[in-house]
Amino acid sequence: MTIFCVLLFLGLLWAEIHVISSFTDTQDVVALRSLKDVWQNTPPSWDKADDPCGAPWEGVTCNKSRVTSLGLSTMGLKGKLTGDIGQLTELRSLDLSFNRGLTGPLSPQLGDLSNLNILILAGCSFGGNIPDELGNLSELSFLALNSNNFTGKIPPSLGKLSKLYWLDLADNQLTGPIPVSTSTTPGLDLLLKAKHFHFNKNQLSGSIPPKLFSSEMILIHILFDGNNLSGTIPSTLVLVKSVEVLRLDRNFLTGEVPSDLNNLTNINELNLAHNKFTGPLPDLTGMDTLNYVDLSNNSFDASDAPTWFTILPSLTTLIMEFGSLQGTLPSKLFDIPQIQQVKLRNNALNNTLDMGDNICPQLQLVDLQDNEISSVTLRSQYKNILILIGNPVCGTALSNTNFCQLQQQAKQPYSTSLASCGGKSCPPDQKLSPQSCECAYPYEGTLYFRGPSFRELSSVNTFHSLEMSLWVKLGLTPGSVSLQNPFFNSDDYLQVQLALFPPMGQYFNRSEVQRIGFELSNQTYKPPKEFGPYYFIAFPYPFPGSHKGASLSKGVVIGISIGCIILVLSLIGLAIYAILQKKRAERAIGLSRPFASWAPSGKDSGGAPQLKGARWFSYDELKKCSNNFSESNEIGFGGYGKVYKGVFPDGKIVAIKRAQQGSMQGGVEFKTEIELLSRVHHKNLVGLVGFCFEQGEQMLVYEFMPNGTLRESLSGKFTV
Ligand SMILES: *[C@@H]1O[C@H](CO)[C@@H](O)[C@H](O)[C@H]1NC(C)=O
Ligand SMILES: *[C@@H]1O[C@H](CO)[C@@H](O)[C@H](O)[C@H]1NC(C)=O
Ligand SMILES: *[C@@H]1O[C@H](CO)[C@@H](O)[C@H](O)[C@H]1NC(C)=O
Ligand SMILES: *[C@@H]1O[C@H](CO)[C@@H](O)[C@H](O)[C@H]1NC(C)=O
Ligand SMILES: *[C@@H]1O[C@H](CO)[C@@H](O)[C@H](O)[C@H]1NC(C)=O
Ligand SMILES: *[C@@H]1O[C@H](CO)[C@@H](O)[C@H](O)[C@H]1NC(C)=O
Ligand SMILES: *[C@@H]1O[C@H](CO)[C@@H](O)[C@H](O)[C@H]1NC(C)=O
Ligand SMILES: *[C@@H]1O[C@H](CO)[C@@H](O)[C@H](O)[C@H]1NC(C)=O
Ligand SMILES: *[C@@H]1O[C@H](CO)[C@@H](O)[C@H](O)[C@H]1NC(C)=O
Repeated sequence: MTIFCVLLFLGLLWAEIHVISSFTDTQDVVALRSLKDVWQNTPPSWDKADDPCGAPWEGVTCNKSRVTSLGLSTMGLKGKLTGDIGQLTELRSLDLSFNRGLTGPLSPQLGDLSNLNILILAGCSFGGNIPDELGNLSELSFLALNSNNFTGKIPPSLGKLSKLYWLDLADNQLTGPIPVSTSTTPGLDLLLKAKHFHFNKNQLSGSIPPKLFSSEMILIHILFDGNNLSGTIPSTLVLVKSVEVLRLDRNFLTGEVPSDLNNLTNINELNLAHNKFTGPLPDLTGMDTLNYVDLSNNSFDASDAPTWFTILPSLTTLIMEFGSLQGTLPSKLFDIPQIQQVKLRNNALNNTLDMGDNICPQLQLVDLQDNEISSVTLRSQYKNILILIGNPVCGTALSNTNFCQLQQQAKQPYSTSLASCGGKSCPPDQKLSPQSCECAYPYEGTLYFRGPSFRELSSVNTFHSLEMSLWVKLGLTPGSVSLQNPFFNSDDYLQVQLALFPPMGQYFNRSEVQRIGFELSNQTYKPPKEFGPYYFIAFPYPFPGSHKGASLSKGVVIGISIGCIILVLSLIGLAIYAILQKKRAERAIGLSRPFASWAPSGKDSGGAPQLKGARWFSYDELKKCSNNFSESNEIGFGGYGKVYKGVFPDGKIVAIKRAQQGSMQGGVEFKTEIELLSRVHHKNLVGLVGFCFEQGEQMLVYEFMPNGTLRESLSGKFTV
């Protein structure tokens, strides 16, 4: 009620102050008003003022009198994208993502936006053909049309987008071939600036044209999975040395895999599963950064386990189900340093299974169902899942063991814990914030990771690093991120439910919703490296009032207003009294408690815990700025590890506290420490600049202080 009153009060004031005076370019005003007329649920500020740039309208950004950006992600818009949009000729950025109510075909006039740099229509319900005219957007660098209902062919004209960096057409109903250039028409082979070809989950057909790839390309993600592509893998693919994720799975590809595929030494994920490949198993020797490989459901020649099974140093996941492996599985496979999952069900492995005496501690799952294994030697302790059901050995010696049971207790996938909230419950349309334990309306949606380098979903560290990168990079309160129920869906994407909670109160305002929607749709937000490429689809956000409908009559407004004025006046009185009281109390506490400014779980109105500038650093960034953690950069050490001096490219100097193996904290403790440090501000403590929680490292980055306080501040863990 209170908040509602204050907002109403401010709203009334606002409406009075902004006397109508048109400042925005007439053409732009006309265009925006026409769009406002065809769209439902435009932000309320669009009705309060006549001048989009002057007032301004939420989601509209102007340079002088011209509209340069229109950002309306997750606004609940309904309607069509009409030709009026083409009148906004100074537009640089158009983001209408996650408005499921936007339908119908795209207007060809979109092609008139000759200055457009970013076009994001992901997660709407647009249909029909992708207009040829989009090829006229010569400044475009980011094009996301994924998760709509587009049909027809990929227009060859997109090949004219010579500045394009991101091309996402995934999850539509596109058909026909992948267009390449001819002497008279453009094609996608001309996109030499592109790093991302995301065409997955369509019905593209025909073969992958050899002309598509060349050594001039700099693609890092080639996602063609889930289409109707046929023919062979073109030999030109191996010319694209930059590629990191190659997904060709779930197509109708045939023939042999090119024998020099292993020239692509930057690949992290290779997925060729569910095709009709024949010939020898591909030789992946030398793919030293390969984390994840899936070759399931093909028709490769029968063969013994290839040598690369045991020598790929980064392998976390090896999958080849319904294959033709035979002979003995080498025990060395189980001591690859990072191996987490080996899934080789329905092959013809026979003989003895010997997992060796050096089983990798990370190994969680070995699925060898339906092979011909006749005996098992377990020389060292292995407590995780081993499935042998359907092997001769289960008929005899091991029949009563766990390994031969269908049900084995898998570790529970991670979900953000609400244990500290003591079972508190919320009204059905709200959720409990893991940070404040208050009920609120979070910003929610689904994250889809299209090529994570791991398979194991119970790892607290992995998911804590995701939570932390989300609150840091999206500028939210520490701990205000909830991740629930991660699982690999039928397309083999890791799907995670995301909820982001507002820093204060129950709601995010419109600008915050739009900002977060944009940062997640234009990839400003980057997850930790092991999560790989992602996309996000938001749920509609329940803005206050949007679920009530019906506007209020004048009499009711006046009544409420009077009530509000009285309430506001008495609240101001109360607030002044409270502040005076609090000041007095703080003065008393401040003497005895050095961390008085830290407000536990943000309930204290005085200390809403914002991350004051602390940021996320990648491992590579810190390695670089500390000169590869060189000895000459060492400025201290202790039981926890070493402290390095780091210099960033902009000249900023920092101290990096790097935990050594053995003194690492659990993910929970590290997360808690960061949440705590980011809230603590005290003149005798060096400020936390940021942290790194990646690639098995835990590092804290502090402001650099030449002498004195540094040592004390860095020499221990901070506890209150
Ligand atoms: C605004 O437009 C002018 C040219 O009209 C340009 O020079 C300037 O950089 C623009 N400002 C911003 C913030 O985009
Ligand atoms: C896409 O179109 C199909 C029918 O062609 C319809 O059933 C489906 O609901 C549409 N999806 C969206 C997101 O609009
Ligand atoms: C825009 O694209 C269409 C179709 O690709 C083309 O016919 C037209 O000439 C282009 N217009 C401009 C101004 O380039
Ligand atoms: C793609 O393949 C599926 C499965 O075979 C088939 O049902 C569908 O009709 C095909 N679509 C096109 C456009 O070829
Ligand atoms: C692949 O690597 C081999 C040996 O390193 C080399 O001879 C060959 O030319 C490479 N192929 C391509 C297409 O680069
Ligand atoms: C893989 O192949 C097996 C045997 O042909 C089949 O039963 C299974 O459904 C296939 N899986 C997929 C996802 O195509
Ligand atoms: C395992 O399979 C191979 C190839 O089919 C065969 O030559 C060999 O005799 C088999 N070994 C056992 C112990 O069954
Ligand atoms: C929306 O919320 C943010 C953060 O809480 C705040 O900085 C901003 O001023 C608010 N915007 C409006 C229009 O209320
Ligand atoms: C996302 O938008 C921001 C702001 O316009 C821009 O700086 C950034 O480069 C964009 N990200 C990508 C991946 O294009």
